[in-house]
Parts: sequence; structure tokens; C-alpha cells
Amino acid sequence: MNKIISIVFGLMILTGCSIKSGKNKNKFIEGQDITADSGIVVSAHPQSSRIGVTILLKGGNAVDAAVATEFALAVCYPEAGNIGGGGFMLIRTSDGKTDVIDYREKAPKDAKRDMYLDKSGNVSEGLSTDTHLASGVPGTVDGMLYAHSKYGKLPFKEVIQPAIDLAENGFPVTGRQASELNSNRKTFIDRNSFRPAFVKDSLWKEGDILIQAALAETLKRIRDYGRDGFYSGKTARLLIKEMKRGNGIVSEQDLKEYRSVSRVPLTAEYKGYKIITVPPPSSGGIILIQLLMMIDPYPLREWGFHSSREIHLMVEAERRAFADRSEYPGDPDFVKIPVDQLLSRKYLLNRMSTFDEKRASSSQKINPGSPEGYSSEETTHYSVVDAKGNAVAATTTLNNIFGNSIVADSAGFLLNNQMDDFSIKPGFPNMYGLVGGEANSVQPGKRMLSSMTPSIVEKEGKLLLVLGSPGGSTIPTTVFQVIVNVLDFGMNIQGAVDAGRFHHQWLPDWISYEKNALDSLSFRKLSDMGHIVKERASIGSVNAIMILPGGKKVGGPDKRGNNSSCGY
Ligand code: GLY
Repeated sequence: MNKIISIVFGLMILTGCSIKSGKNKNKFIEGQDITADSGIVVSAHPQSSRIGVTILLKGGNAVDAAVATEFALAVCYPEAGNIGGGGFMLIRTSDGKTDVIDYREKAPKDAKRDMYLDKSGNVSEGLSTDTHLASGVPGTVDGMLYAHSKYGKLPFKEVIQPAIDLAENGFPVTGRQASELNSNRKTFIDRNSFRPAFVKDSLWKEGDILIQAALAETLKRIRDYGRDGFYSGKTARLLIKEMKRGNGIVSEQDLKEYRSVSRVPLTAEYKGYKIITVPPPSSGGIILIQLLMMIDPYPLREWGFHSSREIHLMVEAERRAFADRSEYPGDPDFVKIPVDQLLSRKYLLNRMSTFDEKRASSSQKINPGSPEGYSSEETTHYSVVDAKGNAVAATTTLNNIFGNSIVADSAGFLLNNQMDDFSIKPGFPNMYGLVGGEANSVQPGKRMLSSMTPSIVEKEGKLLLVLGSPGGSTIPTTVFQVIVNVLDFGMNIQGAVDAGRFHHQWLPDWISYEKNALDSLSFRKLSDMGHIVKERASIGSVNAIMILPGGKKVGGPDKRGNNSSCGY
């Protein structure tokens, strides 16, 4: 009987039909531009957003819905959704309390500082991205269990079940997914000893059904045994077997010892709003707050949206924040990070003392600052707010699109290649072009530095925005620009998310921008100031929620992906 109920419920999710049974006489509303009266989930795939709302409609709170969404993304968005990776979840309960669950991966205990260098000390190309050695110890499953045990209301089994049904029954791939799976087909075949579910005889087409039977079995073990369903027992054995096949070093002990942790969020005031974001081992929160503090004294609105003056100011702040990133942040359990000093207004004003309103600085001359007293782009973000106003902003990743494309045989999940986020050699850029030093060197058991920036904004003590983005190094600058678009330029959330973006990260020393972000006048003026300005493909893929004064919730799914809001 349970099986029948679960299949019927699964089919409802698959087709997106309304829920009218029992107490839940509500209908899903979904897509772009929706306003929900009660609860809302905005995520990278329509299936995962629906599953999150299904859990809200069953009486779950925002954390139940977030956990259900995260597991659903592991099924319907294998590009970045995962159980083999990690992330950060920022929670704000309706009474204003905040918490960060850090489920970032860790380096295995056999990891070595120079493990990605050859005998001559040069970086061995692809080792930190394409191989079993690229994987850190996965954190997502522990993070979800921990978040659920601390805040969840519904039984865990109910929260994970929709993801199991989705893996077992399958779901129609989107057109974008079909082409991503097809582009990665050869890599999947080359890197695996068997054919994973992501490879079929012919090429994928939009609407083809992706069934992941092995993943469903792993999710069932997690449902039935909790941590032991992943970090020991059959799943762990399958993962270790896979590691041995490819000379990986994640061990049984690494899995047994992995624990996610709670961390205290970073907060700051910006123009009367309270910004709440994540601390290290992500650098994203530090960068976001530094950027907002550095631009705070300037009249952006008066200068005009995407005027050359505004863009120049923002990229000069970005240049300085990313220079600091290269030096100071790392895993706070291993290195002392001068967070308070890096975020102090005095330090940041001083940092901008070399800002020239008329000329671009040179990154060669902008070194990391000296704070006082201190000696595929493929990630995914989802946002949830429930009817009571509890909120979750969570960003999760395998690092590259499909991680390292290696599937733990018979366990059905993709492995991460997060080790590349360490500074594998001082000054050597990672896949996002980011350089780093000692604070982010490889050490056993250490978490690699992230740029993920799940964030929340409050106005007069009330929830206003919940947001975040994928995009590697562009994550904090993307979140920064969406916040500025709303707070400084008064845009509605969809407009703020859709607006064109630009990015500077100190090194390489240029502004990259999306086609629609700069008009020819701003382009010319920025070039005249001495900036190198380069067009690039899209930047970030935000999933945001804005709370209106009466309490209604507006979804802001980014049109740059298949992102979708679902609410009721
Ligand atoms: N792997 C991307 C990040 O954590 O920043």
C-alpha cells in the first residue's frame, strides 16, 4: 500500500499536478515570476522545487523542505546536486535566530601538501580535477542529517522519500540537461569501468526519462540507516572499492570520521539593512561583506545603474577583496583568519584609499592588505521560505559540472573534485583562475576554501531576501550585485536577478561581463580608464526569494538556467 501511495505521489511530482487530498487543498504554483502566499522553494530544477513544496504542504518546515530539495537535486540535477559533494546551509528561523551548517568536504587523511605536483614540483595536469584523487570526503549526507536532526519536524524517512521515488521512477531531462549529458558522454565512458545511468545507447533528447536505480538503493540505505547508510556499511564499501580501482585515497576511516559542523554566520550592516552570510571555510561571506563595506560611502543610485562610474567602483572593490582572498581565508579549524580585521570599516576604508575614480588600478600593485593585529563553475543554490517565515539559503556542489564524472560503481552517485579548491601550489590558479597560498594549502582533514555565498538580508529585523548562486569565483560578486540591485537600485527580485553581471577577481586583471551588462558607452569609458574589458558567457545562476511587506513571497529564479520557483 505504501508503495502505491508513494508511486501516486511520485507521479504527481513528476507531472507537477496540484495537491488536493486531505488537508492540503492547495495548488502548486510554479515557474518564473510567481508570488506565493505561504511557502516557496526556488531551485535549479522544477522537480526539486516541487518536491520541496510537497514537503511544506505535508507540514514540514523550511529545513525539512531544504533537506528534501537537496536530496532531490542529487537525483534531478546531477550536474551539481549531490550526495557525493558538500555545501553550506544558512538557516534563519522565524524568531530571527541564525545558524550555518558547514558540510564542506574534507581532505582525506592520506592527503599531502604536494600531492598534485610531479617530481620537478610542477602541477600534474588534471590530477586535482579529473581523477579519484580529486575527491574530498563527502559531506552532504551528514550535513542533511545534522540539519534535519537539529531543525526538522517531519520524520527523516518522509523527507528523503520523494528523492528515492524520483530516482526509481525517473524524470524527464530538460533540453539543457540533454545537451550537458551528451557533451559529457565520452568523459563518463572513459572515466568509469561500467556504463553509468548518465550514458545511454543513443544521445539524450529533451523529455527522455533518466532512471537511477543504483542511486535509489543508496538513498534507501540512507533513509533506513541514517549516517550508517552512507558512511559505513554497503555504500561505504562500494565507495572504497571505487577509490581503490582508481588509486583514490578516501578511506573507511575518513568516512567514519567525517562530521558536518555548525558555524556562527557573519553579519554586517549595509545602508540600514542587515546582511547575514557564511563564514570560512567559505571565502564568499567575507568577500560579500568586504565589497558592500567598500562601496558603502558612494552614491551608486545617483551615478546610475551600470554606469561606468558604478562598475569601476565595484570592480575596484572586487580587485581588493579577491587579493585578500588569496592570502587570508582557509579552514578556520586549521588556520587563524583575521575575520574581524578583514571586515572592519577602518581597514576597508583604508583599502579603498588607493581607489582613483578616474583610473583602473593594476592588480600587480594591489597586494593583499595588512589587517591590523595580524602577523564549471557548476554548483547549485536553492532558497526556501515556509509559511511561518523560517528561511534556508543553501549552496551545494561537486565543484565541476558532474564533479570528476566518476560514479561510485553500484552506488550510483557522482564523486566530487573539490580538492582542486585547495591551493595545490602557491600562485597556481585553480579551475576558476583563483590563486592562493599557505592558508589554503592541502592538509589531511582540512576543508578546502570555498566561494559559496548563501545569504540572507533583513530589513528592520524582518526577513527581506534569501539568495545565493553557483559560479565558482563569481559567486560572491553575483550575490553582491543582486543585493545592490535591490537595495540601491530598488529593483524587484526578478529584475535584480535577470540584470546583466560583471566580475573582477584581482587575477586575472580584467573585467569580464555578460553581453547585456554593458552598453557601448560604459565599455568605452571603462577601457579609457585603463580596464581590460572582456565579454564572457553567463555569470552565476541565482535562486532568490524576496518577502513583500505583507508577507507574500516572490520567487526570483534565474533565467540563465532551468531554475524554477514553486510555491503555494
Ligand atoms: N567549488 C566551488 C566553491 O566551493 O567555491
